[in-house]
Amino acid sequence: MDKILIAGPASQILGVNIAKKLGIKALNTETKLFPDGENYLRINIDDENLIANKEVIIVQTTGPSSSGNQNSRLIELFMMIDSVKRMGAAKVIVVAPYLAYARQDKVFRPGESQFADLIIKIINSLEIDEIYVVDIHATEVLNKISCKAINIDSMKILADYIIAKSDKDIVVVSPDKGAKERSKAFAKHFGENTPVEVFSKERDVKTGDIKMTGKLNLKDKNIVIADDIIATGGTMASAIKLAKKSGANKIYAVATHALLLGQAKFRILKAGADEIIGSDAIDNEVCKVSLAKIIADYLK
Ligand code: R5P
Repeated sequence: MDKILIAGPASQILGVNIAKKLGIKALNTETKLFPDGENYLRINIDDENLIANKEVIIVQTTGPSSSGNQNSRLIELFMMIDSVKRMGAAKVIVVAPYLAYARQDKVFRPGESQFADLIIKIINSLEIDEIYVVDIHATEVLNKISCKAINIDSMKILADYIIAKSDKDIVVVSPDKGAKERSKAFAKHFGENTPVEVFSKERDVKTGDIKMTGKLNLKDKNIVIADDIIATGGTMASAIKLAKKSGANKIYAVATHALLLGQAKFRILKAGADEIIGSDAIDNEVCKVSLAKIIADYLK
């Protein structure tokens, strides 16, 4: 079946790069907000037959950025799916490296919505054929998706970027217990016996304030702190301060999804990070590695 790719407004670079790796045509979109705030999206084609009977790959991350918040990104994604279905796509594949609301997978306080579940229900109702996400916050969320759903691991390409710097004495630090298994797997890319240290994080569910503890000796070690998401930078900055106190030499702050909200970059660099490293799951200035090849390999 012929394939065609639509690079959504939030993933223009990643979308085009995946299309190049697959050797297929990429289309873009036209978007705006109506005066009343409603989203508008149009796939940039003159002839709808371009979509009919094709396998259509829609690439749209749904994280917040300067040009759109996650609500707009989700609506745009839903609009693209709806449009290609209406135009007769034979198969619809969604690549949404960052899945918005995935962190709201539990009820933390009485009265809350477990909203990640509703996002999945909406996706299920759209009857797509496959969905690919990258390093989703909690993989359990994907168990509720009714089509083929794959969580792609970006850790090797992020590790390769740091390995290329040839630093010795690497220690991987997990900023909280939740990231422990991911950090252990990440550390293996630096060598079988690369040490992993785990900090303990407590977040006040009302204020969002973070308390981090951990007593380590990181003297003269080069530290890689790896997380799935950097949002406000609070987690990363706290981990960096602790690592510095413990004698760390260089510190790399690594995340698949470097959302870098508000003052996050300042907080992280001021805390003592030498570099912030993200992937093109989020299109911004710290995106140092591209997911295009690993995603394209899944789509071949
Ligand atoms: C939480 O468990 C996640 O893995 C991240 O640590 C968290 O989302 C980062 O958020 P922030 O940058 O706001 O501390």
